[in-house]
Amino acid sequence: MKNISFIFAILFLISCNTIKEEKVETSEVNSVEDFDLYTPSEMSLHMNDMFEFNEEIKKKIIAGEPLDDFPENFLKIHSAKLSDAKNRNETFEAYSKTFIESEKEIFNSASTIPLKDRYNNAINTCVMCHKTECVGPIPRIKKLLIN
Ligand code: HEC
Repeated sequence: MKNISFIFAILFLISCNTIKEEKVETSEVNSVEDFDLYTPSEMSLHMNDMFEFNEEIKKKIIAGEPLDDFPENFLKIHSAKLSDAKNRNETFEAYSKTFIESEKEIFNSASTIPLKDRYNNAINTCVMCHKTECVGPIPRIKKLLIN
């Protein structure tokens, strides 16, 4: 029993679905089947994809390897379905745009700004949006920064 609650706590720490979080805090967790309660939204899945992709970019930058092209699927941030608790508002749209622009800059070979700075700038826009939308994953996202 205790172990299951613990796993739940971890699960909800890394996501930011506050409504489901409350549900778990107030109800007894009776069986492993309750895990079904957590169905990540399309946006959550997309966020995790972006996380992994940027992790790869970070490795390549550090190793001095060439980067591929800007991943067009990043544009899904404009359309992916959010979890029920979240709404697409003007702030969200503005941050999405800024984010896509700064992520595209990473792949702009004509830029005179050092690659590392362009990369960190993009990661900082992830953090900026998260400060307004969903603070949970911020410590994890900050690990993507190149020092
Ligand atoms: C425009 C705002 C915005 C930007 C930019 C943004 N995020 Fe998110 N992120 C969100 C929102 C909102 C959620 C919650 C999605 C939901 O609940 O449907 C989220 C969720 C997440 C999650 C948790 C997913 C889960 O498992 O529940 C991670 C990890 C994450 N984002 C990483 C990133 C990374 C890495 C970047 C940059 C590459 C980034 N985000 C850029 C708004 C943003």
